[in-house]
Amino acid sequence: MARVRLEGVRKVYDNGFVAVHDASFEIGDGEFVVLVGPSGCGKSTTLRMIAGLETVSAGRLLIGDRVVNDVPPKDRDIAMVFQNYALYPHMTVRENLAFGLKLRKLPRSEIDARVRRAADVLELTEILDRRPSQLSGGQRQRVAVGRALVREPQVFLFDEPLSNLDAKLRVQMRREISALHRRLGATMVYVTHDQTEAMTMGDRIVVMSAGHIQQIGTPMELYDRPANLFVAGFIGSPAMNLVPGRLLADGGLRFHAAAGALDIPAPATLEPFAGRDVVLGVRPEAIHLAGASYAPAGAAPLTARLELVEPLGNEMLLQLRTDGVALVARIPSQPLPPVGEPLALAIDTARLHFFDPASERALAAAAAPAAAARAG
Ligand SMILES: Nc1ncnc2c1ncn2[C@@H]1O[C@H](COP(=O)(O)OP(=O)(O)OP(=O)(O)O)[C@@H](O)[C@H]1O
Ligand SMILES: [Mg+2]
Repeated sequence: MARVRLEGVRKVYDNGFVAVHDASFEIGDGEFVVLVGPSGCGKSTTLRMIAGLETVSAGRLLIGDRVVNDVPPKDRDIAMVFQNYALYPHMTVRENLAFGLKLRKLPRSEIDARVRRAADVLELTEILDRRPSQLSGGQRQRVAVGRALVREPQVFLFDEPLSNLDAKLRVQMRREISALHRRLGATMVYVTHDQTEAMTMGDRIVVMSAGHIQQIGTPMELYDRPANLFVAGFIGSPAMNLVPGRLLADGGLRFHAAAGALDIPAPATLEPFAGRDVVLGVRPEAIHLAGASYAPAGAAPLTARLELVEPLGNEMLLQLRTDGVALVARIPSQPLPPVGEPLALAIDTARLHFFDPASERALAAAAAPAAAARAG
């Protein structure tokens, strides 16, 4: 296995479009790193540069200790699983798995051994003699992963490999790929636009937007300490509530929403930002019903009108409004007053986020740059 390292990597397509601006990060030996971001942000371009399917316009790309900018894909010792993994329909599973190895003229015995190992790991042994049309979606997906596995590469690359599957199968395959990673201890880079997939699978996540890396960190680092407004809004579902307003030194520092009456205490560490416009970030689970036993002591009180209840079974999402400010709360399922009525709430002031609306960066990060895991 090997590490992968990007140093100031840039991709400019022939039409002059810059798809990746200045990507620098390292994927450790045996690490599972997820590239996540909205459509068009440059995820596939980054992956395809690692694979050698796109040229690198500037910067250096290393696999292990070797600079591979000019190394053709077949000599990079990587294997890639695509979203549209066309299996050969006229070949059995066994033949699909063996095909690439035959092309590379491996000895028959070696091919058989590798196919057997991959089939064993991916639980395909029972279906080796079937054709793709006789398989379920999940089984086909496993064969596609198997074709990468038999190559026994240094690095596995996945480009949205699960997006053709239904929701339930996706969750199952997600777990299988994670388990495969643990078993093989292989270096894996996985591209998805789905933040849940990124959170559940990645050792670390690289968040991209418009060709720029926004933040790199473990799932919980990104969730607890988003470096900027983009990451704050992208990671987490339902998304973090973002409320424009201003910090005022008013017998202790307070946040006043620009629209309406929302007014809550802000941490004293943000004193230097008094008088400045800020954006407040509140995770839906940091809003509690007042008086609930699980509400934190000392939380800031707030009254809001209940506009909509979305029951999820174990918990419920509440759409709330206080003057001009719409908020989403996530609370344990319980009886509630009718929609339209005011609700007494409590906001956990230990879990507030503040951002500079101009730079879009987290204020805590701006105050203590060393603590921010920001890159790019
Ligand atoms: N060959 C090309 N020539 C010019 N622009 C391209 C080319 N290929 C991709 N792009 C552009 O580069 C940007 C990044 O594309 P990329 O395929 O990397 O996005 P992505 O993050 O994988 O998106 P998706 O989630 O939709 O797959 C997009 O704006 C895309 O239109
Ligand atoms: Mg893509």
